[in-house]
Parts: sequence; structure tokens; C-alpha cells
Amino acid sequence: MSVLPMHNLAQAIRQHGLVRFIEHYAREFPDTHLKDLVVDRLGPNREMDVNGRQVVNFGSDSFLGLDQDPRVQAALVGGVSRWGSHNGASRAFSSVRSNVEAEEKLASWLGTEAVLIYPSVSLANLGALPGLVSKRDLLVLDEHAHNSMQEGAKIAQANGVRAAMFADGDPADLERILDEAGEYRVAVVAVDGVYSMTGALPRLAELNEVCLRRNAVLYVDDAHATGVLGPHGRGTVLDALGSYDNTLVVGSLSKGFSCFGGFVGCSEEFKRLLKIRSTTFIFGGPVPPPYLDAICVVCDILNSDEYAVIHARLQSNLRDLAHGAEQLGYVVLGGQTPILSLLTGDEEITLQAGRFLFEKGFYVQSVTFPAVPYHAGVLRIQANANHQPEAIDGLLGALAELQRRFALPTTRQPGLRIAA
Ligand SMILES: Cc1ncc(COP(=O)(O)O)c(C=O)c1O
Repeated sequence: MSVLPMHNLAQAIRQHGLVRFIEHYAREFPDTHLKDLVVDRLGPNREMDVNGRQVVNFGSDSFLGLDQDPRVQAALVGGVSRWGSHNGASRAFSSVRSNVEAEEKLASWLGTEAVLIYPSVSLANLGALPGLVSKRDLLVLDEHAHNSMQEGAKIAQANGVRAAMFADGDPADLERILDEAGEYRVAVVAVDGVYSMTGALPRLAELNEVCLRRNAVLYVDDAHATGVLGPHGRGTVLDALGSYDNTLVVGSLSKGFSCFGGFVGCSEEFKRLLKIRSTTFIFGGPVPPPYLDAICVVCDILNSDEYAVIHARLQSNLRDLAHGAEQLGYVVLGGQTPILSLLTGDEEITLQAGRFLFEKGFYVQSVTFPAVPYHAGVLRIQANANHQPEAIDGLLGALAELQRRFALPTTRQPGLRIAA
């Protein structure tokens, strides 16, 4: 039995709407609910042992399969011999040489003057966003900007910064918000490079034009594009805008890179300023040094001709999955990045569909409210370069059977509107 304040605290947390919702699902659907899984083994081609069953994992953001690349693994092992497991110091005091090298390589690959690495994209957004703005400035977010940017905006607001939101991806609404904001010294406008809910790409060029007209800098969290979109996987921003002159770009080292961390691509001046102003950079530890050695190796792979070969494998798997699901009549959302969402609608059906595929040997993520709108549940399927053709065919076979067993929304349904 816990003592009274502990008990009271737990009860208080359990009254939160989200906790009540999640606990309700765990209670109502204990068998279908595939959350909090523990993985006992991973194989080279996304085989995964979980709950005593071997399944193929279609739920990994390691899109290029580089987590299984012997060169990346050797860099990690070599990094442990060179640096130990962790150097244990904030970068405000010192950085290992591999940190400097990784930032130089990232900047040269990305095409920015400089890069500043943080331990994750979330910590980049929580540190950089509030660090960029002060009381006389304005921070504007896309209403669907990633949770870590929303949380970063709350910190900025607590510091006295005015913050506002504009309608998802809508340059006209952004302009209205900036027009109506009254006087500000400078504004920062934060958006996702790829909308994580729909996989759609924002109209970056139009958003940037509004920013330039209204004395605002564009801040793009391109985490989902890093390594998979744009030439050599450098993301969406340079190609959409032609330069980084008015943009700070954030990328992930934990998804396509299969390493660890996040980064901000910027000028040398902004790098220096962000080091002074980002609390998460100053008051926390760095990416463990062995991962910095691995990041250097991944940069070399992305910059080489081999990238085209890996990327072609990924695209071929993505195309086969998207085409196959469409042929079956599924409502397929996304597909610009290696994430496909198949509309399943009802929450219970979404969970049951995920469980059904799991029993057939395929793990995909069942995504329900509040991550997506109520009754707009989806099966989220992540294509990876190291998925084998048999796995793709097998999943499509299981999806065909799933459709025969469950009443799922289909493109054949008259009047069905597809949001993405
Ligand atoms: C747009 C975006 N930003 C930030 C994150 C969080 O990244 P990290 O796990 O590095 O904190 C994600 C993760 O999915 C994301 O999609």
C-alpha cells in the first residue's frame, strides 16, 4: 500500500482525460491492445521476436535499414573503445572531437554553414525555439506542429513571449496572424517539414514568402524527411526554397540515420547564439560519443553513390506496399515519406486489425485517438529498405484477408473524403 500523498497523486493523474481514455482501452481490449511491447530479438531484415511470436516489423523509422549496416555497427564499437560509453560532460564545458567532426560532416551534407547537434529532436525544439525569441518577439506555430514544438512554445510563453497558431499549412492564415499580431521585433514561424499525421508536405515556398514579407524566420522540423527525402536524403527545405537564407532547419539522427540525436542546421552565427541560448544544450549531456562516430559513417554513406541504391530499395518497397493496398481498396494516406496510413476508422476495429495482422506475422502500428481524430484510426505501415519481397507480399496477403474479415472504409465507398 502506498502512503497517502503518493496514492493521492496517482489518483489525481488518473483523472486526466488522456489517462482515463488509455486505461479504458487497456481494460476493454486487453487482448487487442498491442502497446508497450517488449522485443526479445531483432533480425537483419526486420524480423522481431515479441510476445513469444516472430513477426516482421513494419513499425520502424530506421527507414534505410542502416541500424543493421556492419559499417555503422563497427563505428559504434570502435567509438566505445575510443571514448568509452559516455564522456559525461555538458557541451557547454567540452565536446569530444567526434562531435566536431559529426557537425562538420552534417553541415556539408545538408548544405548549411553549420550544424548544432542535440541529444534528440525534441530537445532541439525544447531548447532552440524558446532560445530564439524574447519578450518583444513573436512565435507562431502551425496548429499541427509536432508536440515538441508545441511544448517549446509553452516554455517561450512562460518566458513572456507572445505565441500564436495558424491553420494547418495555410499561408493565407499565417499572413493574417502576422498582420493581426500588432508590433513585434521579429517573428519565428515553426512548421513540420512533413506533417506527421498525414505524411503531407507543407507549401514551404509560400510560407517562406509570407515570412519574408512579415519580418519572420521560418523554422522547419524536417525530422521525418531526414535521410529519405531530397537529394542524398538531405530533406525537403533546400529543394523547396533554393537556399537556407531565411530558414533554420531541424533534422533527426534517430530515424533515417539509425543513430541517436537531432540537429539544427544554421549559420555559424546562429550556432554560436543557440549554444548560449538553448537550455537543453547547456544543462544536459550530449549524444554518447560512439553514436557521433556512427553519424560520421552514415553521412559518408548518404553522400556516396550507394545512397541511390539504398533509397531505390526503400522506394520500391514503399511503391509495392502503397500500390498493393490501393489495389485492395484501402484508403491509403501519406506515401510521400516511407510511412503509409491505411484508414480503419473505428478505434476498436483499428486495434483488432493490428492484432489480426500480428497473429498473421506482421507488426504494424494501430494509431487511434488522440494521435489522430476520433473515429479516424489508421494502421501505420513503415516501409524500410531492408524489408524483403516475401515480407511485403506476405503483409499484402494478410491485408487482403483483413479486408474480407472486417468492415473497413474503402475507396469504393461513395462520398468518402480523403483528408491527406
Ligand atoms: C516532426 C518530429 N519532431 C520531433 C520528433 C521527436 O524526435 P526525437 O525522438 O528525436 O525526440 C518526431 C518524432 O517522431 C517528429 O516526427
